[in-house]
Amino acid sequence: MSGNRAVAYKGPGEVEVIDTDYPEFELKDGPGVNPANVGRKVPHGAILRTVATNICGSDQHMVRGRTTAPANLVLGHEITGEVVEVGPGVEFIKVGDLVSVPFNISCGRCKNCIERKTGICLNVNPDRPGSAYGYVDMGGWVGGQAEYVLVPYADWNLLKFPDKDQALEKIMDLTMLSDIFPTGFHGAVTAGVGVGSTVYVAGAGPVGLAAATSALLLGAAAVIVGDMNEGRLAQARSFGCETVDLSQGGPAEQIEQILGVPEVDCAVDAVGFEAKGHGHDAKEAPATVLNSLMDITAAGGAMGIPGLYVTGDPGASDEAAKKGSLSLSLGTGWAKSLSFTTGQCPVMKYNRGLMNAILHDRVHIAKNVNATAITLEDAPRGYKEFDAGAATKYVLNPNGYLDGKAA
Ligand SMILES: NC(=O)c1ccc[n+]([C@@H]2O[C@H](COP(=O)([O-])OP(=O)(O)OC[C@H]3O[C@@H](n4cnc5c(N)ncnc54)[C@H](O)[C@@H]3O)[C@@H](O)[C@H]2O)c1
Ligand SMILES: [Zn+2]
Ligand SMILES: [Zn+2]
Repeated sequence: MSGNRAVAYKGPGEVEVIDTDYPEFELKDGPGVNPANVGRKVPHGAILRTVATNICGSDQHMVRGRTTAPANLVLGHEITGEVVEVGPGVEFIKVGDLVSVPFNISCGRCKNCIERKTGICLNVNPDRPGSAYGYVDMGGWVGGQAEYVLVPYADWNLLKFPDKDQALEKIMDLTMLSDIFPTGFHGAVTAGVGVGSTVYVAGAGPVGLAAATSALLLGAAAVIVGDMNEGRLAQARSFGCETVDLSQGGPAEQIEQILGVPEVDCAVDAVGFEAKGHGHDAKEAPATVLNSLMDITAAGGAMGIPGLYVTGDPGASDEAAKKGSLSLSLGTGWAKSLSFTTGQCPVMKYNRGLMNAILHDRVHIAKNVNATAITLEDAPRGYKEFDAGAATKYVLNPNGYLDGKAA
């Protein structure tokens, strides 16, 4: 086996499908690879033939040129695959297994992994705690929007589907276990959602729709989703959410029209630092969502913040935001004793339970996010349409496993 095809970031607004190397059980030098990780041996790894690999809003931050991602970085952290090779240190995962890969890379051996805080593993990224495939500043693990990909610490990281045929039937749902379903679920759980909660989710992208789906699964009484993209709001209504159109102004008044009060018990930020302001033709205003969630979350409530915030944003509109500093009305949150949970979702905390919910037909996440399979070669179109606001979660199909599959 020699070759591999993969989606690479080329420059702002541009991705290309390139010829690249078939993975080996060693991390080689390449675009974005931390020098301290070059030559790292991966005997505990597995090589997967990719079954499904999704395009994410997190990829878009890089592709829009809003990060320091280098050209030719191979993208892709949402990976489902079939094991085709295992390293000599792999004991339990076998060739032929069909598996979901948590987007967080974690070692299973450090103190954070032992506490299931796998989004901040201490051993996989020399720059800082936490890592992911195909992502800037995450250590340089090669992305999985490709025909083949290497997964380290395979026995620990991989979630094996119990039955291959059943899994392939539900593969468009199961592919959401690598990131957005657990991430949306984590947003809802950390916002305190339970039976009878009222919930506001900012953002009707795939993560927001996954958070709304999760809130319903957790028993919320009312789930209100806000965005300024009508197509995405319609998608939220399609499975029982209420919606607010933020091009008309902030969420409080519209929430009051729905609930009778201008506040909710639980709020989720599924937008992040590229947030737009509210109202007609509003410009980017990175603190909008955080400030409006502090306004509308009832005293004593909680905010789940899966939306991504950065330590540096060269493309930001003002000097402070370029350094990751936002203008927060933290006093509002303090006065109301609100709790906040930020950071990468620790996927492993949730993926097995959510897999079972899918396999037992408790939830139809693929339908709710309008999952659509496209070929690997069509990735540049998927990125463009997703960036333009399509109400679609694009799933790349590099090896034909998804032929004929729909949400
Ligand atoms: N924490 C994690 O582990 C994790 C995992 C996956 C994704 N993310 C992050 O979650 C965020 C959402 O991901 P996605 O794939 O859904 O992205 P997306 O870009 O498709 O969706 C974001 C949506 O927010 C909307 N929006 C913009 N300003 C808004 C505002 N003020 N109020 C409400 N909506 C607004 C946009 O119109 C868009 O529909 C991104 O920041 C992504 O990086 C985090
Ligand atoms: Zn993602
Ligand atoms: Zn670890």
